[in-house]
Amino acid sequence: MNSMKNDRLTLRAPAKLNLTLAVKGRRADGYHDLESWVVLIDRYDELSFEPSAHFCLDVENNPSVPTDERNLIHQAAVRLAERSGIEPRAHVRLFKRIPAGAGLGGGSSDAAACLVGLNQLWSLRCGVEELSEIGLHVGSDVPLFIHGGQVIMRGRGEVLQPLDNTLTGWVVLICPKLQVATGEVYAAYDHAARDRCETRPWELAELSCRSVMPQLFNDLERAAFAVEPEVQQLHARLDGLHDQRVRMTGSGSAMFTLFDQAQDARHWASLAADAVPVAVHVHKILSASADARI
Ligand code: C5P
Repeated sequence: MNSMKNDRLTLRAPAKLNLTLAVKGRRADGYHDLESWVVLIDRYDELSFEPSAHFCLDVENNPSVPTDERNLIHQAAVRLAERSGIEPRAHVRLFKRIPAGAGLGGGSSDAAACLVGLNQLWSLRCGVEELSEIGLHVGSDVPLFIHGGQVIMRGRGEVLQPLDNTLTGWVVLICPKLQVATGEVYAAYDHAARDRCETRPWELAELSCRSVMPQLFNDLERAAFAVEPEVQQLHARLDGLHDQRVRMTGSGSAMFTLFDQAQDARHWASLAADAVPVAVHVHKILSASADARI
């Protein structure tokens, strides 16, 4: 979704869910090779871009989000400008709705939207592959958001296989007020402790939330639970509630479950909100390729 008013360009940056996440091994560069089925959902940060004499980032609704080089938007803007041999002149405003440290990819989605937005504002004409390559230096999930759609993500996050057979449905998203550091979770990950059977539910002939839900898994759950035991406690209270499995996304702390019907999602969300004192929201899986991209 992309709108231009006067000189101001506005983009929406969606959140992601890792429906499956298999850690394949540790790489020589310290990162881990993954295989992950990823979808985007209709929870968005919003970014706007305007010409300016210098680079400036404002976060409109959350003073705890850094606006300096710690912010991935800042890093993305500087890298894009450096690659293009120009000064990073832009005023970027961010309205944050995706919680940080939740495994929802908010920071990477913002960085991807920044690359897409500034590519347009600065008339650079960089293609998707070039923006993805720049984005990978900022964060492993940035290429995913630049490509959009529903994909299998491999390597560190740079190898993306688009899926034709897409999943439609509703997500109940549980967001504890806990930030989990991705690096800490990978450091706590123990290859020896894998206790699941690796499935590939995206290959099912009949792709529905009901059919895939029991096959979803996340290799990082156990490590995230060790890093942040409160996530494990919340998971224990929600997993199995009304016979519904609950999975974690990315390196946590957010968790989710899927439904084919909106009314079933809303019903389960109200049960979950009664069971745990954390934010519970219903979202839609983005499936049409025009929607499922920045
Ligand atoms: O790329 P990103 O900044 O999201 O990664 C944060 C940290 O998570 C990395 O420094 C690394 O320790 C870990 N990571 C990893 N393998 C990946 C992605 C992230 O080990 N595929």
